[in-house]
Order: sequence, then structure tokens, then C-alpha cells
Amino acid sequence: MDYPSSKLPSVGLTIFSQMTALANQQKAINLSQGFPDFDGPKPLLDAVGRFIAEGKNQYAPMAGLPELCQAVSDKVFRCYGRKLEAESEVTITSGATEAIFAAISATVNAGDEVIVFDPAYDSYEPAVTLNGGTTVHIPLLPPQFAIDFQRLQDAITLRTRMIIFNSPHNPTGSVMSSEDLLQLEQLLEGTNILLLSDEVYEHIIFDNQVHQSFNRSPMLAERSFIVSSFGKTYHVTGWKVGYCVAPEALMKEFRKVHQYLTFSTSTPMQAAIAEYMQSDAEHDQNLPVFYQQKRDLMNERLSSSRFGIMPSPGTYFQLLDYTAISDLSDQEFVLWLLKEAGVATIPLSPFYKDGTQTGMVRLCFAKSSDTLEKAAEQLCRI
Ligand SMILES: Cc1ncc(COP(=O)(O)O)c(C=O)c1O
Repeated sequence: MDYPSSKLPSVGLTIFSQMTALANQQKAINLSQGFPDFDGPKPLLDAVGRFIAEGKNQYAPMAGLPELCQAVSDKVFRCYGRKLEAESEVTITSGATEAIFAAISATVNAGDEVIVFDPAYDSYEPAVTLNGGTTVHIPLLPPQFAIDFQRLQDAITLRTRMIIFNSPHNPTGSVMSSEDLLQLEQLLEGTNILLLSDEVYEHIIFDNQVHQSFNRSPMLAERSFIVSSFGKTYHVTGWKVGYCVAPEALMKEFRKVHQYLTFSTSTPMQAAIAEYMQSDAEHDQNLPVFYQQKRDLMNERLSSSRFGIMPSPGTYFQLLDYTAISDLSDQEFVLWLLKEAGVATIPLSPFYKDGTQTGMVRLCFAKSSDTLEKAAEQLCRI
């Protein structure tokens, strides 16, 4: 039989899965994929078992457990001052990944253009492509990886349906400023362009900066799908529970896709997160200090290495400039580093549409102090 040609011909196994497989094979320290090597809060973990034993094992409502939608709405108000209707403007999803796919599928038509910033998280483009849209890529330039609003303006056409933002930004750690939000408001004045704001690292931001959620701006919020991930906030990435908030009209369309993509998200996980959010509202406020200590420990230990340490104001990722060590391509360098230092990292070029070489690799510092110290010691030998 002749199988149909691929709908995503240029997509292969993600670089994250590849590097994790190599790290496991070579028993290296895995600083490649973005997940913690420690557990989430014990009361949260225990609550899942309890809810399963109590029989919370059947389908959750399509939009999410009401108590979790309400907890999200309360949190958004507490953190960003936006009032959301829990019933009509919040949907619980199977990770931020599902929310991203549903938001794009609900609104992007064949022939539409969607603007993304490179280096970009890898799930945006395939979702646009599968819906018949075209992704337009704008570079973020080192060392700050800030948005160039002139370039953004130049990239907007009559076909622009959506712009995708991600702050704090994976893989560079850069964060948007309040000035960026103002510039964006001015740029979009009088247009019908939609926004997808990927804010999965909303609570992982350092040096006393404040996360500039699109929830803070009524003008941006009225055209935005804003997505986040409980996996990142509660150190439980494997649970794959996230959420999307959007104005009712957009959320109505979003739910039409969500309804047939997954229908609903794991009930005991949702119940546990809702309970935990009510019992420990401080958790997210403590994350900046928690992760900043890890970033600072790693960077302090790496200060005697030959790597250049790039600014990392947010996320649990750190970029390292290796140009003083090697002129290999970043894909070759991560393999060399794995062999020589026994540490797995991620090359930056797969995050660029055109494979731009920056001479940098990304590491994840969401690891125990022991792991970070050991990894830094091995990297300093290079
Ligand atoms: C920028 C960004 N968006 C979305 C996701 C996906 O989040 P989730 O695991 O909740 O699907 C990730 C996970 O690494 C991410 O880094």
C-alpha cells in the first residue's frame, strides 16, 4: 500500500527526547530536557492518591473541575488584577501543549500567517502547519534576545492572524518588560490580530522583576489566549495539566477544539491541584527565590569555567556561550560535551527555523544542588 505523504515532513524526534536518550545511554548528568529532578510538594502528591481512593476517577467536566477553574481565576486576580469568569473564561487542559494546539486550531485558517520569535519553543510551528497556516519567523538577537518591534511591525500583513509570545522565554530566559507591553498595545491598535501568550514560566522570574503577564493589559487580554502549566509551577511536569484563559468569545471556540482533542483532563490531578492551590497560595510566590538560588549556585560554580554565562532573568534555563572553547557547530558541540564532560545540554540551533548558529547551548538548572555542583565541576574541567 502507498501511505500518504507526511503532513509534517520536516518534523522528527524532538532534540529534547534525543538528548535525554543519549544522556541515559551514556549515564551522563542530564541538564538537557526541562524538568526538575525533585518532586512537587508532598501534600499535593498525597492528595492525588487520596482522591483516587475516594473515587474521583471518572471524567472531569469538559472545561475542568469548577473548583480548579475558580482557583485559576482567583490566582489571576491576585497576581495580575484581572477578573475572570471561571465558568466561561478558564479551561483546564492536558498541559500547556494542548492549550497551545487548541488555541491555534480554533483560530488559524488555511492561508493565515502566524508570527513567532526565534529561537522558538518547538510546538508552535507544527500546530500552525497542520491547520494550513504559515509561520513567519522573527529573530530575537543575543545577548538580550529582546523583541525588535520595528521588525515585528514590518512582518505584519493583512494575513496575520496571530502573534505568539513566550515570556519568560524558553530557551533564552529573556523576559518581556512593561514597555514591551505598551509597544505591543500601540502596534495592535485598530487591528484584529490575536495573541497567544505562552506564560508557562510565569512564576519563575528573578532579580526582583515582575512578570508582565498579558493579563495585566485589558487591551491585550481581550485578544489573547494566555496559557500556563501546573507542571512547571508545582514541579510535576509528568502530570501534564495546564490551563488557558481567554475572553468568552475566544474561549467558546477554544472549547470546541478541546472537547474533541482530549475532552477533559485527569480528574484526580485536577482535584489535587485545586485543593493544594487553596491550602498553599504562597507556593508560586516562593518560586522566584527557590529557582534563583539554583541559578546563582550553578553560575557561581561555573564562573571559573571557560563558558560565557549569558543573562538569565527568568525560566529554569541558562544559556552558555562556548565560543572560547570550540568552533564546532552547536549540534556537534553538545555531543562532544556529553562525551568529554558527561553532561547533556541542548543546542540552540533547533529552536531557529534557519538553524542559526549562536555558539550557545542551553542547560536546565531545575536540579538538586548536588546534581548542579557535580555538573558544574565536570563542565569546569573542559
Ligand atoms: C515554552 C513552553 N511552552 C509550553 C510547554 C509545555 O508545557 P506542558 O508540559 O504543560 O505541556 C513548555 C514545556 O517545556 C515550554 O517550555
